[in-house]
Amino acid sequence: MAAQPSLCNSPPPMESQGKKGADPRPPSNYTDLISTLPLEEGWAPMRNRKYQGFWIPQRALTGTLDMQQNFKARPDDLWVLSYPKSGTTWLKALAYAIMTRAQYPFHHHPLLRQNPHECVPMVDRTYSRGQAPEIEAMPSPRILNTHLPCSLLPHSIKSLDCKVIYVCRDPKDVLVSLWYFNNGLRPQSMEPIPFTKAFEMFCEGNCPYGPIWEHVLEYWEESQRRPEKVLFLKYEEMLEEPLRIVKRLAEFMGCPFSPEEEKEGVVEEVIELCSFDKLTSLEVNKTGKVLLPSIPLTNDSFFRKGGAGDWRNHMSSEMARKLDRITEQKLEGSGLTLGGVAVKASAAINGDDQALF
Ligand code: A3P
Repeated sequence: MAAQPSLCNSPPPMESQGKKGADPRPPSNYTDLISTLPLEEGWAPMRNRKYQGFWIPQRALTGTLDMQQNFKARPDDLWVLSYPKSGTTWLKALAYAIMTRAQYPFHHHPLLRQNPHECVPMVDRTYSRGQAPEIEAMPSPRILNTHLPCSLLPHSIKSLDCKVIYVCRDPKDVLVSLWYFNNGLRPQSMEPIPFTKAFEMFCEGNCPYGPIWEHVLEYWEESQRRPEKVLFLKYEEMLEEPLRIVKRLAEFMGCPFSPEEEKEGVVEEVIELCSFDKLTSLEVNKTGKVLLPSIPLTNDSFFRKGGAGDWRNHMSSEMARKLDRITEQKLEGSGLTLGGVAVKASAAINGDDQALF
C-alpha cells in the first residue's frame, strides 16, 4: 500500500519564494524549477512533468506552484476535488446548485447559462493564467476546485481545515474517458493515441495527475481520518443513488434540505438541473468554450456518455483484469475498493458515517 500522507504533512510553502518584500508572483522562478522536472510527452499535446511523485500537466505547473505559494484559504471554502475524468463536472454542478438553491429559482439558475467549470473555478489553472485576483475576489463561501493530489494542496487549505469533497471512479472508465478527452485535444494532423499505448501508460502511472491510485488513496486515507471534513464519493454510487448522495452532500456542506424542501421536491430539482441530459441539452454546454490557457477546449468536451462500464467497449478482458489487479494491489489493506465491487458495499450513504465507505 502507498505511504499515507496526512493533510498536515505536506510541505509548507517554499521558503525561497515566501520572503517578505519579494515579488509575490514571479513566474520566471517557477519556469526554472519546472524545466528541471522529469518530462513525459506520451499524452501529447499534453506534456506532463513529475513533481513530488505525480505527473502534473506542464501548463498547470506554474499555477500549481504559484497557488502553493500564495493561495489564501478561508475557513468556509469548500473544495471539490478529483482525479480528472472522475465526475468533476457533475460534482461541481451539484455542489454549486445545492449551495445556491435559495439564491436562484431553478428555471433561472446560472447553471442554465454557464458551464459548471465557470461556476466552480479550477484554482491552479486560474493562477496559471495570472488571474489569481479573480479567486481572491470571490465572495464567501467559495466553492473551488483542483485536480491536485492531497499532498500538493496549498498549506493554508490544510491549516484552516477546509471541507473537501472528493469523487473517484472505476479506473477503467477513467482511462477510457481520459483517452477520448486527450484525443479531443489533439490537432487534426495528429493521430489519436493508440488505446493500447494509453492503457500501458496509465498502468504505469504515467498520465495527467497520475498515478491514479496514489491520488485516490491520499484522499481516502484523509477521509478515514477526518470524515467530518473530507467526504469521499464514488461516481458509480452517484449514478445509482443520486437522491441519497445529494442529501448527504447538502448535510456535509452544512446546508441540509429542510423537510419542507424535501416535500416540495427541491432535491429532485437539483438532481434534474445537474443531470447529464439537462446539462448536455443547454446551449452553453454545446457551443461554449472553456477558459484554459493554450488548449482548444470546448464545453462539450466534459460530457461524453455519462455512465458506468464503457470500458467494456474498449478493453479486452485480459486488459481489464490487468488493470483491476493493479488496482487491487495498490489499494490492498486500505479498506477501499474500486471498479464495481465496492459500489454496492457503499450504498448506505445516509446517516451512519461508518457505512459511507
Ligand atoms: P465519460 O467520458 O465516461 O462519459 P470530469 O468531469 O471529471 O472531466 O469527468 C468527465 C466524465 O463525467 C465524462 O465521462 C462525462 O461524460 C461525465 N459527466 C459529465 N457530466 C455528467 C453528469 N451530469 N452526470 C453524469 N456524468 C457526467
